[in-house]
Amino acid sequence: MNTLLAKVEHKWITLKQSWATTTTVCKAQVSTLPPEPVIPSKKPFKVDLLGGKRYSWCSCGHSKNQPFCDGAHKSKALGLFPLRFIPEKDGTVWLCGCKHTNTLPYCDGTHKQDFITSAPLHRDTD
Ligand code: FES
Repeated sequence: MNTLLAKVEHKWITLKQSWATTTTVCKAQVSTLPPEPVIPSKKPFKVDLLGGKRYSWCSCGHSKNQPFCDGAHKSKALGLFPLRFIPEKDGTVWLCGCKHTNTLPYCDGTHKQDFITSAPLHRDTD
């Protein structure tokens, strides 16, 4: 018979699973905070967009195709998703590279604030 016991102790959750002859105990940190993006660039990306075309702006910062999504959030940033948008007309825009803008997906100058300028740049290791 399989049993699953969950016990919350402060911010830790203990899972105990018993099978016929083995017992597995593991601990995992649980957070109710939303996931945070990493910072791939402290400057915006100047890009030419086509009106009526759908784009996916990377919101997690893990894409290797900045500022656009390459699907990396599926393995590296669970809970974060790309922002899909369709510009009304052709034009050159500045898309946020720090991933902390308040005017998604466009740069609003947030990258000039201390919490971005003093933060480490994300460097993908794989
Ligand atoms: S690059 Fe993110 S606000 Fe400018």
